[in-house]
Amino acid sequence: MKKLMTLLVLVLVTVVFVSSCGDDKASAKTTTTTTTTTKAEEPKKEAAPTTTAGDPAKGKELFAGKTCSSCHAPDKKVVGPSIQDIAKKYASAGDMVKFLEGKADAIVDTDPGQVAVMKGNIDGILKDVTAAEKADIAAYMMSLK
Ligand code: HEC
Repeated sequence: MKKLMTLLVLVLVTVVFVSSCGDDKASAKTTTTTTTTTKAEEPKKEAAPTTTAGDPAKGKELFAGKTCSSCHAPDKKVVGPSIQDIAKKYASAGDMVKFLEGKADAIVDTDPGQVAVMKGNIDGILKDVTAAEKADIAAYMMSLK
């Protein structure tokens, strides 16, 4: 009986030892896989802010500070179309940030003389405005539609 118990204990110890060894290898493999997956996902997370919607409150300040408001009133045409008219148009078509970057054509007032006036701002004032600030301005303008 004693012999049998000793044998049983030995077998048990061996089983525990072998299986724990196997577990170590398995968990080591899992860790490697997890690390690789996390690294692959990182660039996506960094790219996200470019598509994040702008801040309308910041945009309102920029709109006044960058002289946009001297030609664009909220609800009536001054030199350029009203912000409401621009926002209504952009609600169904176009990409305002792209327009402000000079990468898309005018869609609100396409009169060449008028487009030239606004083009002057894209090549002037807006050159010093960051992409994030342009998104803020666009968010403010869209909030008035
Ligand atoms: C000197 C006057 C003037 C100033 C200053 C001005 N704009 Fe304009 N803007 C215009 C005129 C004129 C148009 C109409 C032509 C056009 O639509 O491109 C226009 C059109 C636009 C449009 C509509 C574009 C489209 O698709 O037709 C947006 C958006 C716009 N302006 C944003 C801005 C922002 C933002 C600022 C400040 C950085 C600004 N504007 C400053 C005169 C001005």
